[in-house]
Amino acid sequence: NWSMKNFIDTEIQRIRTLVGPDAEVIGAVSGGVDSTVAAKLMTEAIGDRFHAILVDNGVLRKDEAKIVKETLTEGLGIQLTVIDAADEFLDKLAGVTDPEKKRKIIGNTFIHVFERCAAQIKPKNSDKEIEFLLQGTLYPDVIESISFKGPSQTIKTHHNVGGLLDNMKLKLIEPLRELFKDEVRELGEIMGIPHDLVWRHPFPGPGIAIRVLGEVTRSQVAIARAADHIYIEEIRKAGLYNQISQAFACLLPVKSVGVMGDQRTYEQVIALRAIETTDFMTADWFPFPHEFLKKVASRIVNEVEGVARVTYDITSKPPATVEWE
Ligand code: XMP
Repeated sequence: NWSMKNFIDTEIQRIRTLVGPDAEVIGAVSGGVDSTVAAKLMTEAIGDRFHAILVDNGVLRKDEAKIVKETLTEGLGIQLTVIDAADEFLDKLAGVTDPEKKRKIIGNTFIHVFERCAAQIKPKNSDKEIEFLLQGTLYPDVIESISFKGPSQTIKTHHNVGGLLDNMKLKLIEPLRELFKDEVRELGEIMGIPHDLVWRHPFPGPGIAIRVLGEVTRSQVAIARAADHIYIEEIRKAGLYNQISQAFACLLPVKSVGVMGDQRTYEQVIALRAIETTDFMTADWFPFPHEFLKKVASRIVNEVEGVARVTYDITSKPPATVEWE
């Protein structure tokens, strides 16, 4: 596509001019398409003067940090540091059940961890200071942050980089800020980003922490993560992944009676969510074939210890939101 190739060339030139011949740039990546495309663009423009950081907050999906590392470093040549900060996040989340508090803790901890990591990166590059912060902000994010005033004003806490800009005296670079999601995906395909990553469902910054209802503990995260992995694997196997806008498993902190073999069990409940939407402002639940739901439910109860029952969420948005918290 001519206009996208043109966009790439223009943007690379613009970045080079803006950053100049010596300055260093830092940016967080999440494993999603936006931050990956932004990081790839930056790498094409300034090579290893760009430092990508993936913060493992302990509430990522199964093997996420490892997969992102492989894809970005080996696959795309992006210079990436993975920070394992799982303990720090999970310790701070201990005892917290309120969804907005979880979001705030995760957002603030992210800023702390990121700053610390940035300070460690600096000395490796002689006397150079890091001057710029890369953000994969899209046009809808720009609009949303201007016009959205609802009770979940704190959504996308990870986009709240004000602290980083002020404390670290960084200047912001947002190469995707005029693009829509479909344009970023097109860009991703052209730039050689793996197809599966380009078409991945969105994943919220607070991750599994808002999909473990109630208190977030390591064992609760492990249950939600294992169930989610099975669910997404089956969705892919059934060839349904691309028909669904977003799908995930939630762990409900209630106990329910079940029977395994001839044993009575008393364990928690997994709720599955899958939606179809174009803008995430309204959404319909996805009409899975019954056989599919039957298979997933049986796999989750059999393979994930601590789960006695599986339910499927048939609420649209509105009145329900996409996430349970
Ligand atoms: P809701 O639950 O508001 O979700 O209907 C709409 C979309 O936003 C995502 N979402 C978040 N993304 N940080 C994020 O980065 C958040 O705190 C957050 N809360 C919801 C949700 O996954 C869905 O795609």
